[in-house]
Amino acid sequence: EEEEIERIYNSYRNIIATLPRNRGWATQHLCQYQGFWFQPLVGLEGIMWMQQHFISRPTDVYLISSPKSGTTWLKALLFSIMNRTRYDFSTHPLLTTSVHECVPFMDLDLFKTTPIADPEVLSSPRLFATHIPFTLLPDSIKNSSSPIFYISRNPKDVLVSLWQFMMKVKPKDLPPLSLEDAFEMFCEGISPCGSYWDHVLGYWKASLEFPSKILFLKYEDMKEEPLLNIKRVAEFVGRPFSLEEEENGSVQEILTLCSFEKMKNLEVNKNGFYRVRNTKNDVFFREGKVGDWENHLTNEMAKRLDEISRQKFQGSGLMF
Ligand code: A3P
Repeated sequence: EEEEIERIYNSYRNIIATLPRNRGWATQHLCQYQGFWFQPLVGLEGIMWMQQHFISRPTDVYLISSPKSGTTWLKALLFSIMNRTRYDFSTHPLLTTSVHECVPFMDLDLFKTTPIADPEVLSSPRLFATHIPFTLLPDSIKNSSSPIFYISRNPKDVLVSLWQFMMKVKPKDLPPLSLEDAFEMFCEGISPCGSYWDHVLGYWKASLEFPSKILFLKYEDMKEEPLLNIKRVAEFVGRPFSLEEEENGSVQEILTLCSFEKMKNLEVNKNGFYRVRNTKNDVFFREGKVGDWENHLTNEMAKRLDEISRQKFQGSGLMF
C-alpha cells in the first residue's frame, strides 16, 4: 500500500512539473492548477489526492478560507462549539494543544505528501479545514449534505497578513519577497490559493446558490459582533446554544477561550511547535486586528486594491 501511495504522489509531482509557474512567496515556485496558484510540496499534491480519493461523510463539517482570513480563529470556535459537552473549560484541549492539531488542514497537513493520517480513523463528526477553491472542491464534498463554513476578510489586511506570515515561514535559503513585489503579485492573483478575489467570489456565489449548505462569514463582522456570529455558527452546525447556555456564561466562555488575546498568550501558541510544518505555532498570531493594513500599505497600494475589489465584486453584492 505504501508503494502504491508513493506511486500516486509521484504521478502528481510529474503533473506539477508541467504546470505554468511563477515566483513563489515561501516556496520556490507557485504553480497554476485549474485556474488557481498553489505551493507545490505544501498542499498542491494534497488537493490532487483529495480530488481523486477523498470520501466525505454526511456528518463531516468543513471550514474553508483563503489563507490569512481568520481560519485559526474559526477553527477554535467550531472545535469548541462542537465539543462543548465533551470538555471542561479548565482542562480544554485548546489550552495545551495547537488548534491546527485539533482541526487539521486536509490539503496542507493530512494529505500533504503521503497521507500522514488516515481520515477513516477519525471519529465522527469530523471537522476539517482546507484552503481549496470552490471550483476545485472534490465532488464528494460538494454533493454531500455537510455544512461548509467559509471565512473571508478584507483584501488589504489579507495581503499584509499573508506577506508577514510567508516571510516568517519561508526557508532561510529562499530570498525574501519585498512588500512591493508581494503587492504586485497579489494584485495579479499570483498568491498562495489565489487569486484571492476569485477564491472569495467562488464561495460567495455558491453561498447565495446554496444558502443552507454554505455559511459565508466575514472576519470584520465577527470582530464587531462576536456573540451574534458565534450563535449563527452554532446554529448552522446544528448545535444551537440553549437559553441556559446563554445565561450560564458558556457562550461567553467559548468566545473568551478563542479570543486572540487568550490564544496568542497560551504557552503552546507562544513557544509550541507545529510539527507537521516545522514552524512555531506563534506564526499564526500576529496583530489580530481589523485595519492593520494602514500601518503597512501606501495610499496608492490601498487605492489599487480597492479598485480591483470594486471591479471584481461589481454586481455580486459582496463588499469589504
Ligand atoms: P494578522 O496577521 O492580521 O494579525 P489565518 O488563521 O487564516 O491564517 O489568519 C491569520 C490572521 O488571523 C492573523 O491576522 C492572525 O493574527 C489572526 N488571528 C489568529 N487567531 C485569531 C483569533 N483567535 N482571533 C482573531 N484573529 C486571530
